[in-house]
Amino acid sequence: MGLIKVADRIRYYFHLARTRKSRNLFIEKYPKVVLPPPYFLYETFGLNYFSYYEDGRDTAEWLINYFSEYKKLENINILDWGCGPARIIRHLPSLVGSTCNCYGSDYNPQYIEWCTKNIPDVSFSTNRLEPPLLYSSEFFDIAYGISIFTHLSEEMHYQWFDELMRVLKPDGILFLTLQGEVFKEKLTESESCQFDEGKLVVRANTLEGHRTYGAFQPEDFVYKLVGSNKVLKHVPGGKNNGKPEQDVWIIQKVI
Ligand SMILES: C[S@@+](CC[C@H](N)C(=O)[O-])C[C@H]1O[C@@H](n2cnc3c(N)ncnc32)[C@H](O)[C@@H]1O
Repeated sequence: MGLIKVADRIRYYFHLARTRKSRNLFIEKYPKVVLPPPYFLYETFGLNYFSYYEDGRDTAEWLINYFSEYKKLENINILDWGCGPARIIRHLPSLVGSTCNCYGSDYNPQYIEWCTKNIPDVSFSTNRLEPPLLYSSEFFDIAYGISIFTHLSEEMHYQWFDELMRVLKPDGILFLTLQGEVFKEKLTESESCQFDEGKLVVRANTLEGHRTYGAFQPEDFVYKLVGSNKVLKHVPGGKNNGKPEQDVWIIQKVI
């Protein structure tokens, strides 16, 4: 584990050097945009200011399109679980309007400290690796987790799914992205067999919750996780510039 940490740190400095020009270009184009420390971006979605800000905004718009299929976006509470340094949630208040309340939670207190100081119109809180969240039951109309279960153990899948259902209102919507079938190309032969048997594949050679801890979710496993709640939509991930994209799962809380 120590070796992985050192290798990851070296990789970070390499990325820092390689992205210097593009980071400067971003600052010229958006001098007023407040940015998180580069290491936060590296740890979450990649050390690229343009993709943090512009793709983050596109992702927020993409999510809203999905949400509005199921909920009227007025007077509702929305949670970004595993919000990281606010790549998505920072754009939500201006997109959904002032009648909606936006919340972000993450287990990394450094991200939440930065978000609280720098991102207006969103309420942030820290949770632990394991549940609970700080919110009362049946508080949210919508909760989303973009690439969070992808870094958790099987036990945490079950605990967190139950917790997200607890904080959702009846008929509330849970939006998740998960590493489905298209990620099989990343798996070893034995992992691939496990995946084909409908079992969760977990690569647990580093700290749980960290970017380098990986979980891959076959369809049968997700249906088992969802239990008696309702899958409203499953969009299998495709490829974007040759890279696999995560599956979209939209689940409705049924009581
Ligand atoms: C790949 S990043 C995605 C960040 C953000 N959702 C985005 O799309 O930019 C994974 C995030 O999950 C967070 N995380 C991991 N385990 C968590 C947990 N148990 N509870 C809350 N957040 C968690 C990490 O701190 C990190 O911010």
